[in-house]
Parts: sequence; structure tokens; C-alpha cells
Amino acid sequence: MNIRVGFLLIPITMALGQESNSTLVNPFNSEADIARGEQTFQSQCASCHGRDGRGGNAGPDLSTGTFKRTSSDEGLFQIINKGVPGTVMPAFPLNPGPAWQVVAYIRSLSIGRRNQGGAGNAAKGEKVFAAQKCAACHDASAPDLDGIGTRRTVAEIRESIMNPQADVPSQWWRFKAKTRDGRSLAGLRLNEDTYSIQYRDGGGNLRSVLRSQLASFEMDRTSPMPSTKDKLSATEIDDLLAYLVARGVR
Ligand code: HEC
Ligand code: HEC
Repeated sequence: MNIRVGFLLIPITMALGQESNSTLVNPFNSEADIARGEQTFQSQCASCHGRDGRGGNAGPDLSTGTFKRTSSDEGLFQIINKGVPGTVMPAFPLNPGPAWQVVAYIRSLSIGRRNQGGAGNAAKGEKVFAAQKCAACHDASAPDLDGIGTRRTVAEIRESIMNPQADVPSQWWRFKAKTRDGRSLAGLRLNEDTYSIQYRDGGGNLRSVLRSQLASFEMDRTSPMPSTKDKLSATEIDDLLAYLVARGVR
């Protein structure tokens, strides 16, 4: 394909300050382009958007397939070129080729996560979910599973349910403590500093305790989630995955 098409159209639509309705196909969309785009991304974007594009302290997740500011490749191209004025998202004066390659890379992140037709049966999976009482935690204090299929790959979700202890994010670490006046505290650690610990108690309330009030403190880095490994058959796990992937996705 003639890459000049991309060169010519972009300045025109940029001058209009809006996205064109005609879909402009990314002219740099091969495997090699994606690999080059990833290199550019690692050097220029990862510091804010995370090494895997899933968001970091300073920039949003770019891997879900939906964006706040655009829905087209061309829109992504323009955001890269112009930045998002009024935010820390800078303009990148990249040449069109490298900019399109980054767009291709960003797109590849969500396609990798678009969890295409597994073997399972979602309706049966919903019954497994009910029978295993997953909702007892997941409708309460545990992570919201709606839309998990857009945030995690099937392989990652499978790992979470087969082997919950493998990689427990720190926001789910639980602590137990005793105060000097004999009270027992327990909850999810949210944050801590030199003097205090902020946490969420069993009732979901935000609380804070001074370290100086504590007689003992124990951090539990395991997940409370039971493994399904020995409880469910391979078919039931496939069904459960099909249900989870479809859950809360419009
Ligand atoms: C200094 C931090 C920083 C760097 C570096 C950075 N970004 Fe961003 N980016 C942001 C922030 C913050 C936003 C959110 C702006 C807003 O919409 O409020 C953003 C938004 C975006 C968006 C729009 C997301 C959406 O949901 O609409 C895209 C696309 C994007 N950045 C791509 C990139 C690419 C590609 C690079 C590297 C070439 C990059 N960014 C480098 C901070 C950064
Ligand atoms: C005793 C409470 C509890 C039960 C029961 C439970 N979970 Fe969880 N689950 C958690 C907690 C807490 C986490 C977050 C910590 C972690 O990653 O293990 C979690 C994490 C997950 C994740 C990863 C979420 C993410 O955002 O990556 C998935 C998927 C999941 N659970 C599915 C299930 C399914 C399916 C069942 C039923 C078979 C189930 N859970 C039963 C507490 C529970």
C-alpha cells in the first residue's frame, strides 16, 4: 500500500481539528511495524503508560481497546502527534511512519487481550460460578470481575483461578495487628507511611492507625481465594472462563 496516503490525509484532518469519518487504514501494520512500534513505545511512552501499556502512575491504560479520547487509529495517531493539551500527555513530533507503528503496537495490545472464542460454554460457566460461591467474595470485597475479559487475557484469568497465590497484587495483602490496649485489627492495607497505616476494614470502611499504638503487626501476602484446581474438571474451568470473559462486556 502506498504510504503517502497516510502522509497526505493526516495534516488535512488535523487542520480541521477533528477526526475524519472516512476510516484511514493504518499503513504500518505488519508484525515488523508492531515490533518497531513497541521499541518506540518502550523508549518514549512506557515511563508513563507502563512497560506493557497497561497504565502507570502517570498515564492511563492503553491496552483495553477502548480510549477516552478517540475510537479510531487516526485519532490515536493525532493524540501522539499533538498530545492532549492541558494534560501531561506531551506531543511527540515523530515522523508519520514511527507514529503509525506505535498506533499498531497499541492496537496489538488489545487484540492480544480480545479473548477470542474459547472452548467453554458461558451459560454452564455461570452455574459453576454460582455453585462455587465466587460471588460471596467478588460481589463484596474482592475485585469486581465485570469486564475482566477486556483487562486480562484468558491465560491470565485461568492462572488467577487455578493458582490464586501466584501473583497477589499488594492491594489485596491483608494484615492482622494488635494494639497496645489489646484490640485486634484486620483489613486490607491501602497505604502506609512512617507514622501510620491506612487500611480498609472488613466492613469496607477506610481506617487509619498510628504505628505507635500497635503492639504487633503481621502482613499476609497470600490470596484468600481458594484454588479451583482440584475442585473443577477441565471442562468446568473452560466454561467458567467463557463466562468470566463475557461477563459485563457490552
Ligand atoms: C509524561 C507522561 C506521558 C508520556 C511520556 C506519554 N503519555 Fe500518553 N498520556 C499521558 C496522560 C496523563 C494521558 C491522559 C490525558 C487525558 O486524557 O487526561 C495520556 C493519554 C494518552 C492517550 C489517550 C488515551 C485515551 O484513553 O484516550 C494515548 C493514545 C497516549 N497517551 C499515547 C501515548 C504514546 C503513544 C506515548 C509515547 C509516544 C505517550 N502517550 C507518552 C501521559 C503520558
Ligand atoms: C474467599 C474469597 C474469594 C473467593 C471465594 C473467590 N475469590 Fe477470586 N479473588 C479473591 C481476591 C481477594 C482476589 C484478589 C487477589 C488475588 O489476585 O488473588 C481474587 C482474584 C480473582 C481473579 C483475578 C482478578 C483480577 O482482577 O485479575 C479472578 C479471575 C477471580 N478471583 C475469579 C474467581 C472465581 C471464578 C471464583 C470462584 C471459583 C473466585 N474468584 C472465588 C477472593 C475470592
